[in-house]
Amino acid sequence: MINNQRTLVLIKPDGVQRGLVGEIISRLEKRGLMLIAMNFRQVTKEFAETHYGAHIGKPFYNGLVKYITSAPLIAMVWEGTEAIKAVRQTVGATNPLESAPGTIRHDLALLTSRNLIHASDSVETAEKEIQMWFKKDEIFEWSRLHEDWISGLN
Ligand code: CMP
Repeated sequence: MINNQRTLVLIKPDGVQRGLVGEIISRLEKRGLMLIAMNFRQVTKEFAETHYGAHIGKPFYNGLVKYITSAPLIAMVWEGTEAIKAVRQTVGATNPLESAPGTIRHDLALLTSRNLIHASDSVETAEKEIQMWFKKDEIFEWSRLHEDWISGLN
């Protein structure tokens, strides 16, 4: 059965600074996922602390908040069959040195502290994160003429 999902993806400040926005979007588009919301913004410390609330108290937490607030980032919502798993597969493991060849983090990054992307890790997190990052009217439902060639079942 087709399990259509939505997931939040951030191209973190290092991805923007390094000119990798097009490359990252292109990989997700080519996978067959659909971009349904996108904006460019620099987040406040308070916003970042809410987004990364699950990591409060961890040794890397303060550095993580500093990194994510240091410059503008791209926030997006992607939709498609098993989008949460598919995006995380394409993105690769949190530590780029442990990510599989062919994944974005493997091919384009070296360090966990500069790992280019954030992607929601579960259905519950995705719902929470999408609601936090986007208003309802910033998310667009649209359809593709060739949808069956991507998500069709035989
Ligand atoms: P992300 O997928 O956004 O989820 C949490 C983030 O915390 C992670 O990517 C990294 O940017 C960061 N992170 C996790 N572990 C570490 C670590 N050991 N050192 C530095 N940053 C980390």
